[in-house]
Amino acid sequence: MLSTEHQHIVKSTVPLLEAGGEALTSHFYDLLLTERADLRGMFNSAHQATGAQARALAGGVLMYAKHIDRLEALGELAGRVVNKHVSLQVQPEHYPVVGEYLLRSIREVLGPDVATPAVIDAWGAAYGQLADMLIAAERDMYATQAATEGGWRGFRPFRVAARIVESAEIVSFHLAPVDGGPVMRPAPGQYIAIQVTVDGAPLRRNYSLSAVSDGTRYRISVKRDPGGVVSGFLHDHVNVGDIVELTAPAGVFQLRDAGRPLVLIAGGVGQTPLMAMLEAAVAQGTRDIRYLHFVRNPEVQAFRERVEQLAAAHPRVRFGFFYDEDPSVPDGLPPGRVSSNVLRDMLPPDRDADVYLVGPGAFMASVLQLLGELGVPPDRCITEFFGPHQEMAIG
Ligand SMILES: Cc1cc2nc3c(=O)[nH]c(=O)nc-3n(C[C@H](O)[C@H](O)[C@H](O)COP(=O)(O)OP(=O)(O)OC[C@H]3O[C@@H](n4cnc5c(N)ncnc54)[C@H](O)[C@@H]3O)c2cc1C
Ligand code: HEM
Repeated sequence: MLSTEHQHIVKSTVPLLEAGGEALTSHFYDLLLTERADLRGMFNSAHQATGAQARALAGGVLMYAKHIDRLEALGELAGRVVNKHVSLQVQPEHYPVVGEYLLRSIREVLGPDVATPAVIDAWGAAYGQLADMLIAAERDMYATQAATEGGWRGFRPFRVAARIVESAEIVSFHLAPVDGGPVMRPAPGQYIAIQVTVDGAPLRRNYSLSAVSDGTRYRISVKRDPGGVVSGFLHDHVNVGDIVELTAPAGVFQLRDAGRPLVLIAGGVGQTPLMAMLEAAVAQGTRDIRYLHFVRNPEVQAFRERVEQLAAAHPRVRFGFFYDEDPSVPDGLPPGRVSSNVLRDMLPPDRDADVYLVGPGAFMASVLQLLGELGVPPDRCITEFFGPHQEMAIG
């Protein structure tokens, strides 16, 4: 437990972090990843380049400082971080390294007048407390994954059993474990991390599972990101019979079995976890399902026929595809743009639905705003983001 004095100092540095938190964590990442090249493959290079990772960590630290005297308020944040860390194999021995670089960055960015020995001391103790909490939760999650039927620890080799071109820019990989054993069944919506070696460097990325697993294999569906290292490698160099390494499924974005109508809203490749949810909900057959896919054009759209088949076979499924490049402009709006009318048409009149949303950040922000205006309660809107969750910075 932190002393009252340490708590006080940490809380009093919140305004400072709010003003300069991102500069601090950017500097921290520069230092860490320049000096500790061995950790670089764990981090997504683009998330660092765009500053998203720095913002996420700044958000985590800031949120922590605000709630230092009631850590239970961090529940949601901690769950996401723990799942992401476990998926990417963050280990207890990494924490002191990160802590050392964080404190060094505080010193170098804030300078000796602000980062006095007392401030550094308080933050050292606070970081230690947060690290202990995350390490304990991560240890539990690693143990649970290993104890689950078909589960495992660390990276497990998987062979590419099938490679299916789904659209002009999305390829699916069906992955079966080389050891021939069962695989743990993920909750619909969860992701794995894949590790591949590109130019001698092992790189890790998360991919959502895009189908319900039958307990023997997984499917991921990867969009080629222009200039993207891992997605480009998977598209160009990974074929049937090749071996990749996977960590066990993780992630707090999971289909809730609430029995309410289900509304799935995808932007682009954000459809992948929603496809697993759609299939699971259809198999369950107990709720009305709406599937909305906003995408540039039919050529880049994956799983169009699969959604049409499911809807044809199951009367409780309704769907809509909305193309940015569709020449028929609905109600005067730019084509494909999410509108209040489109959403209203898919929501139950009493708004009593669970809405799952995945897509690019700006898309998600505008959908969330429209859902709020239409009266969908915020706790019914469940999101996944294919990068560090920036909502975390909202405290
Ligand atoms: C939970 C989760 C689930 C995901 N699920 C999926 C999924 O189902 N399908 C899917 O396709 N993706 C998914 N992703 C995204 C995936 O993890 C990768 O981020 C994505 O494939 C891009 O990785 P990459 O290595 O190809 O690109 P990177 O090499 O990381 O680059 C990404 C982009 O950033 C640009 N970039 C890279 N470095 C720099 C730099 N230094 N400066 C400026 N720009 C730069 C690149 O040109 C490229 O456009 C998911 C991510 C998360 C976190
Ligand atoms: C108290 C310490 C830490 C805090 C508060 C913290 C916080 C965070 C947060 C908020 C995210 C974003 C999660 C998301 O939105 O998906 C994240 C991701 C991540 N963290 Fe940590 N973290 C800590 C320690 C560590 C350590 C010790 C490591 C190991 C090197 C680490 C490695 C990572 C990686 C690899 C990611 C994903 C990055 C990416 O997407 O590129 N973290 N962390």
